Amino acid sequence: MPMKLIVNVTPDWGIGLENRLLVSIPADLRRFRALTTGKTVIYGRKTLLTFPNAKPLPKRENIILSGRPDFAVENATVVHSEAELFALLRGRPRESLCVIGGESVYRLLLPYCDEAAVTVSYIDARADRFFPNLDALPNWQVASTGAPEQWEGVRYQFIDYQNSAPKAFG
Ligand SMILES: NC(=O)c1ccc[n+]([C@@H]2O[C@H](COP(=O)([O-])OP(=O)(O)OC[C@H]3O[C@@H](n4cnc5c(N)ncnc54)[C@H](OP(=O)(O)O)[C@@H]3O)[C@@H](O)[C@H]2O)c1
Repeated sequence: MPMKLIVNVTPDWGIGLENRLLVSIPADLRRFRALTTGKTVIYGRKTLLTFPNAKPLPKRENIILSGRPDFAVENATVVHSEAELFALLRGRPRESLCVIGGESVYRLLLPYCDEAAVTVSYIDARADRFFPNLDALPNWQVASTGAPEQWEGVRYQFIDYQNSAPKAFG
């Protein structure tokens, strides 16, 4: 069963600017909620700061990566290293795990994910955070391509990728 990663990218794989998302599309947010509710979401400290009131997401187990030894968050588990994260995740059902950003955590955990639920937003936006180009990675193949959709002039598309050789946790 799959461990998933969920991301919204621009055509050049941009994902954020000045610690904010580049775009917000209601249908995409609904899909994010549907894919993650009841699951364990894994993300970096900077992504936490982008959530409403910088609070963990409700109705999900939140695991936050931070190198700061004294960083603690109510209603979330903070892990301080890749090794600590893997020790926590090892033995858990992979289908309960969702990697939700940002750039540093996507890059760290991409090789361990089985699937990536990608939303491509066809916008021309400057970015300072990027997702790896999955079309250039030999392990990753497109599994399904959704119909092109549009919201308030923004064209977007859901594209699911699959990893043919996911790594096991350490
Ligand atoms: N488009 C999307 O789908 C999407 C989704 C999520 C986020 N984003 C965007 O991505 C951007 C944030 O990405 P980012 O790369 O700057 O930040 P990030 O990955 O959210 O968080 C980075 C922080 O995570 C901690 N961390 C990462 N790897 C670690 C490790 N191996 N061990 C311990 N701690 C670790 C560190 O915290 P400390 O500094 O505390 O040590 C690091 O500073 C924002 O613009 C956000 O809006 C986009």
